[in-house]
Amino acid sequence: MLGGIIVCLGNICRSPSAEGGFRCLVRSEGLADLITTDSAGIGAWHIGDPPDDRAQAAALRRGVNLSDLRARQFKAADFERFDYILAMDEANRRDMAHLSRSGLDDRLKLFLDFAPQLDRREVPDPYYGGDSGFDEVLNMIEAASHGLLDDIRRNHL
Ligand code: 4NP
Repeated sequence: MLGGIIVCLGNICRSPSAEGGFRCLVRSEGLADLITTDSAGIGAWHIGDPPDDRAQAAALRRGVNLSDLRARQFKAADFERFDYILAMDEANRRDMAHLSRSGLDDRLKLFLDFAPQLDRREVPDPYYGGDSGFDEVLNMIEAASHGLLDDIRRNHL
């Protein structure tokens, strides 16, 4: 089975939103038996926590329920388990590269590499901002999710 993991700092805002959004797209395309989706955080502060209430509310407004997700920490072994290893921002990518054996893993990319039409490469952390930040994050996630699925279809299915 093909797999992707999406990683941010806390695993309570951006990456669980992306996990839920991408999984929803995969299901709607009838590909749930072929593609697994996971998420994790760089930090350990929120291990075991559900996604931030604001992230859950914003996702639910778009029909995506995140309530079953629980935060976990990204670990070196995740490099063995996933075909796509995707960071939400450059700081996350740097921290992940330090955990990989070579530091040069070509499966390690930015999530927004799959949305080249957007004028940004990083998903901004909405944690300390207002509610609108969560909607903007979801717009970016929707764009990159379609691009990621296109890439998977082209290269793996
Ligand atoms: P995330 O947002 O990386 O999108 O989950 C954050 C959530 C919590 C913290 C940082 C970022 N924190 O420092 O607790």
